[in-house]
Amino acid sequence: MMELIIDLPVYMPVLKKIQELDGINVHLLPEPAVVARTLPVAEIEHGTVLLCTIPPENHAAMKNLELVQIASAGYTQLINQGFAQRNIRCCNALGVFDVPIAEWNMAMMIHLARDFKGMQRNQQQKVWDRSARFQDEIRGRVVGIWGYGGIGRETARLARALGMTVHVLSRSGLKPRHHTYCVPGTGDPEGLLPDRVFGMDEKDAFLRSVDFLIMAIPQTGSTEGIVGEAELRLLKPSAFLLNPARGPLIKEAALVRALQENWFAGAALDTHYHYPMPPEHPLWEMDNVILTPHISGSSASPHFLERVWDIFFENVQRLRNGKPLLNELSAAALTGK
Ligand SMILES: NC(=O)c1ccc[n+]([C@@H]2O[C@H](COP(=O)([O-])OP(=O)(O)OC[C@H]3O[C@@H](n4cnc5c(N)ncnc54)[C@H](OP(=O)(O)O)[C@@H]3O)[C@@H](O)[C@H]2O)c1
Repeated sequence: MMELIIDLPVYMPVLKKIQELDGINVHLLPEPAVVARTLPVAEIEHGTVLLCTIPPENHAAMKNLELVQIASAGYTQLINQGFAQRNIRCCNALGVFDVPIAEWNMAMMIHLARDFKGMQRNQQQKVWDRSARFQDEIRGRVVGIWGYGGIGRETARLARALGMTVHVLSRSGLKPRHHTYCVPGTGDPEGLLPDRVFGMDEKDAFLRSVDFLIMAIPQTGSTEGIVGEAELRLLKPSAFLLNPARGPLIKEAALVRALQENWFAGAALDTHYHYPMPPEHPLWEMDNVILTPHISGSSASPHFLERVWDIFFENVQRLRNGKPLLNELSAAALTGK
């Protein structure tokens, strides 16, 4: 019997499907955890699989534990918890935000290209202005996606559907991704959609080629500040920059100066340097900047829970059938290497 311990709000349609599987016993914890906590041993000790955001502090009491499925893409809560040493497999929720972030990317490109901010200012001031800049389009423009993971792939799919040319900057070229969660019918699991792929040694040519640059890489020790003055100066004066990934990928002072001095045309920023951004920060006031408060993809999304449960359902079945799991974290990742 596989005992599933659920420490997450329930998404009923998938829970029902799980309960219909043979040989599965589901144990729902009464109040799902939002912070680390110790649970009564009797509640968890027989668990084979744990679905949670943060594992209980006394997870070592789960002697039969085989799999931990977390409900976040970030997995710092799993690092150096002894899971790798105990051969407990761990999976994250990578992929649940690809769709909303890719849609944010499309919305922002169209907003920037047509200067919707300018139109809204005109509306507030009751100005009737039918200038050409409000009538532009993105079809035929080049979108440059830096990092071809889940967000990059769904952005590429939507951009191609809108008639854009897709350039990608990738460390190691495009490969199929069959063991990473992707909402059915979205993304580019085979890695076939981009019109042109640039290697890291072609970064300058990539930056010069794009009308929209979209950051889609993680923030790590090696990527923090990866975009600085030199990179921003390579963008066309007519180009726009979108950052739904992480603010510190782009050097703050260089970005502010570039936007103040119009090195390129404007930006849409969802991720930031301060949480919240202080009212006196210059980015709030800039006419050529759209600033959103880290909501391009969010756990408050109406589809968040459904997608986490989809990953869980798939992984429970894969575990039973001895198949590769979705979003499995390596032992190196679990030990912070
Ligand atoms: N705004 C939000 O709410 C929100 C939500 C989710 C995620 N994010 C951010 O967006 C980032 C991308 O998300 P994702 O779901 O697309 O992640 P992903 O599927 O893991 O893909 C990230 C891509 O970045 C590249 N990459 C990975 N490690 C790198 C490194 N050390 N240096 C340079 N490139 C690296 C890889 O592409 P190549 O192999 O092609 O280089 C990888 O496929 C996340 O890391 C997160 O910071 C933001």
